[in-house]
Parts: sequence; structure tokens; C-alpha cells
Amino acid sequence: MKFSMDWTLVVVLQVLFQPSLSVLFTVQAEQTIYKSEYGGNVVMGCRFSPEPANPQSDLKVTWHRITSSSSPEVIRFDNGKISASQSHQGRVRLLIEELKNGWAKLEMSRLRINDSGVYQCLVQTSDGDDYKSISLSVVAPYKSVTKHIEEAAEGDEVILTCQSEGYPQSSVVWKDGHQRTRNPSNTSVSETPDRLLKIISQIQVSSSERNNYTCNFTKDGSSATFYIPDEIPQSKNDAAIVIVSMLVIMGAVTVGVLAYRRRKGKKGSRAHSARSTRNLLVHAEDKSAATCIQIDKENEDVIINVGHMEETLGSQLKAFYSEYSTETRRRCGAFSVEELLQRLQNNDGQPVNPLALLPEPGETVFLEGLPGSGKTTVAHILVSSWAEEPPHSLELSILSLLLCVDCSAVKEDLYQEIKTQLSLPEKTSAEELRTVLTRSSKALLLLDGYREGNHVFDESLRMFLSEKRGCRVLIMACPGHCPTLMQTAGGMLKFNLQGKSL
Ligand SMILES: *[C@@H]1O[C@H](CO)[C@@H](O)[C@H](O)[C@H]1NC(C)=O
Ligand SMILES: *[C@@H]1O[C@H](CO)[C@@H](O)[C@H](O)[C@H]1NC(C)=O
Ligand SMILES: *[C@@H]1O[C@H](CO)[C@@H](O)[C@H](O)[C@H]1NC(C)=O
Ligand SMILES: *[C@@H]1O[C@H](CO)[C@@H](O)[C@H](O)[C@H]1NC(C)=O
Repeated sequence: MKFSMDWTLVVVLQVLFQPSLSVLFTVQAEQTIYKSEYGGNVVMGCRFSPEPANPQSDLKVTWHRITSSSSPEVIRFDNGKISASQSHQGRVRLLIEELKNGWAKLEMSRLRINDSGVYQCLVQTSDGDDYKSISLSVVAPYKSVTKHIEEAAEGDEVILTCQSEGYPQSSVVWKDGHQRTRNPSNTSVSETPDRLLKIISQIQVSSSERNNYTCNFTKDGSSATFYIPDEIPQSKNDAAIVIVSMLVIMGAVTVGVLAYRRRKGKKGSRAHSARSTRNLLVHAEDKSAATCIQIDKENEDVIINVGHMEETLGSQLKAFYSEYSTETRRRCGAFSVEELLQRLQNNDGQPVNPLALLPEPGETVFLEGLPGSGKTTVAHILVSSWAEEPPHSLELSILSLLLCVDCSAVKEDLYQEIKTQLSLPEKTSAEELRTVLTRSSKALLLLDGYREGNHVFDESLRMFLSEKRGCRVLIMACPGHCPTLMQTAGGMLKFNLQGKSL
């Protein structure tokens, strides 16, 4: 009995220690599952040991794609030479520099949905061969949701549509402003050429009942909200009515002006001959010609006004800023401008010249920084550099207008906030502001602490950005606070402000 137990023990020990006695070549996967985003890249790694003494001649690494029917090669390193498959068209790379550290790493970039699947790393050396399988899953988050409203064929209803693309499939849930789920909604799914899923979901709701409707792509939580009835576009009929009424009013005004001028002309003396050209034309009594003059004159007024308003507004703003900046300077007195501006970086983490923050005419620039990184102070530096006499910290004389809006507690639309915050005279109209701002290439709109969420302000800002031609825009925000704007305003510059507190 004792003999047999001892014998068993010997066998167990032998089995346990057997591997360590000889050099056993092994390959281990760094991770067995990788999850990566569409369009992004991934590095999948296999660790092999022991490392061969001479990787150039004594190492062969092959990555295969494993499907149910075949296992095509993706890339191979053999005898110091790399060969990659045609099918991956320059999107794959073997990290050669890692081989000497015992890593067979495959990098795939510009990932596609159909790159998902099982991959296998096979490592062969004179000590032996081994392989491991790794699965890759490529996903595409449903990021931006586009929305659309149209009138239903009959009744006082509207059809709300949300659309987004991603992978894999997401369900779409509609809720109203009272958090009640709205059914029925119909949702269609189709595949794009890139193998993404395009999901379109619609509901039909009353156009007269005041309510909010939110569609939610639940996989990633992306959503869009419709504010009914505010967001219902004016139908063509309504627009036609508005145009007709405007024409009627203009006609009436013209007739009134004519009548007045004629009476005045009869009564008046030749002292009015300075206006004779216009009076002559008016006396021609052709209504349409008179309307034309009226319109031309309005356009002319607008053109003249831009320059004039730029100037008036400019001096009002400078006066306003120099009053308030005395106080600001006291608050910001402790920081060093140079030190702060040194923390400015571009998207690649390289330091940038502070003047790079100044957008070109028509351009939108983004400055991101964590709370307390000094964004507001940068705003103050810009404002005081512009408003005060030299010596200033930054040369901003190219700007004739700088409008700095504190977005931390906006309540109204962009123009009303500008008027209130910058104490502009009551008589300044939103229309005037809009005209000057959209046209002037010497104007800078600076939004400090912007965060999406106030519907009225967001909409007016979106409108402004879409119609502006000359105006320069600098938006300062915390990372992630304005995803929609960053996505829609495409092609803008982005800078970062490093560091947490001053
Ligand atoms: C719609 O949303 C606005 C702003 O979030 C809110 O004030 C309002 O009460 C909502 N309306 C309904 C009917 O829920
Ligand atoms: C919703 O349903 C209607 C009628 O059943 C259909 O005409 C429409 O195409 C559907 N919309 C979507 C997005 O599938
Ligand atoms: C994968 O998808 C791309 C488009 O994104 C397509 O060009 C390619 O042919 C597809 N490859 C396979 C193996 O289906
Ligand atoms: C959308 O749905 C997700 C998942 O159910 C939830 O976490 C998220 O809060 C929803 N978003 C909105 C805006 O309702």
C-alpha cells in the first residue's frame, strides 16, 4: 500500500515538473478579445517566449484571419522580410521593433465593420511553434442624431424623424416631455456601403399640443429633442402669406409716402429741391418703380449701417469693458499672462502662439480646458488687450469689435444675451446686431464657458454659425460640453489649455 502511494506521488511530481525541465516555447495572447471603433485603429499583441537569439533569421511570425471556410494570411514576417496581404491595402502593420522584446504585434488602422472576426498569431522558432486566437470586434457608436420635421399628409399632425448611423443595431425609444414612452413609432434599418446601419425612426404627433419629444438611440444613449410647436417649420402657405402681407404693407407705406410727399411738395417751397431727383421719380406715379426705390434704399441703408454700427458698437463696447476690466484686473491680478499662455496647446499637444487663438475671418476656433484651467482668464486677457490702450499683452487692433459672452448662465437667445450682458443701449435691435455680426470680418464673438443645453441659445447660435460670413468665433468650453456643435460646425480648429488651476 505504502509503495503504491509513493509511486503515485512520483508520477504526479513528474507531470508537474516535466514542462520546466525542457525549454517549452509558448505564445500568449495579450487579450483574447479586442473591441475597437470604426475608423480607429487597434494593436493586437501575442507574447512569445523564450525570445530567439537571432530574430532576423530564426523567427517567423504569421497573422491569419480565421473564417469558417478559410484562413487567409494578413501579414507575415519571415527571414527578416515583411509581406502583407493585398486585401488589407496598407491598413496593417507588424510592429517589428517589438519582436526583439518577444512581442508579435499587429496594428490595423482605419478599421472597418467587417474587420471584426477571429485572428490568429502563429510564431515559429527553432525552439518550437505555438499560436493563439484573438477576436476583434469593431463597433461604431451612434454619435450624432439628425432630426427632421414635416407635416403629416392630413390632420393637424406632424411627423418627427430621427436618423443616425452606427453598429451594431440599436433600438430607438421615443419619450414625450412627461417621460411617457410614445408608441407606435416605426423604425427602419438599412446598411450603408461601409456596412454601418442607418436607422431612421419616426413618430406622428399633434402639432398643436405643446410638448417635447425625444428620440433615444439606446445603445449609446444619443438623443435629439423636438420642441413642439416651436420647431415646426412655417409651411409654404404660411410663408406665402407672410410675403404677401409684407408686400401689402410695403405697398401701403409707399402710397402713404407718396401722398405725404406730394402734399408737402405742393405746400413746400423750392427749398426741397435737394431731394428733387427722388421726388421726380416718385412723381412718375409708377407704383412698382416706387417700391423698387424703397427696397434699394433699404439695402443701401443696411450697407452703410454695417460700417457705422461697427464703429458705434465698438466704442460702446470699449467703454463698457474698460469699466469692468478694472475690477477684473483686480481679480486676475495674481496670474502671469505669459505663464498662462504657455499652457496653450494644439491638438497634437504642441505649444502654440497665443495669437493662433484669433480666428481668421469666418473661422470658428475651439479652446478646450478643464474647469479651472484658466479659460475665463484667457477671455479676460483678450478683452483687455482689445479694449485698452497700449501696451497690451496681445496685438488685436485688427478687430473692430469684440463681443465676449459669458455662457455659464445664458437664458435667452444669442443676440439678447449680447445686449444684456454687454449693456448695449435698449434701442439696439437684434436685427442690427445680426447684420453687423454676420457680415463684419473684423468682429470676434467670444463665447466663454459654453455648454450645450439651453435650447433657445443653442438654436440661435447654430443659426448664427450657419449664416455668418465674416465674423470670427472663439468658443471656450470644457471637454465634452458641446458635442453637437463640434460635430456640426465641421472643419474648425481646436486648442487645449493644460493644467487645472492657476
Ligand atoms: C419641454 O422642455 C422644456 C425645456 O426643457 C421644459 O421647460 C418644458 O416644461 C417641457 N415641456 C413639456 C410639456 O414637458
Ligand atoms: C412608417 O410607416 C409608413 C406607413 O406604414 C411608411 O410609409 C413609412 O415609410 C415608414 N417609415 C419608416 C421610417 O419606416
Ligand atoms: C469590407 O467592407 C468594405 C467597405 O467598408 C468593402 O470595401 C470590402 O470589400 C469588405 N470586405 C469584405 C471581405 O467583405
Ligand atoms: C437614452 O437611453 C439610455 C439607455 O436607456 C439612457 O441611459 C439615457 O439617459 C437616455 N437619454 C436620454 C436623453 O433620455
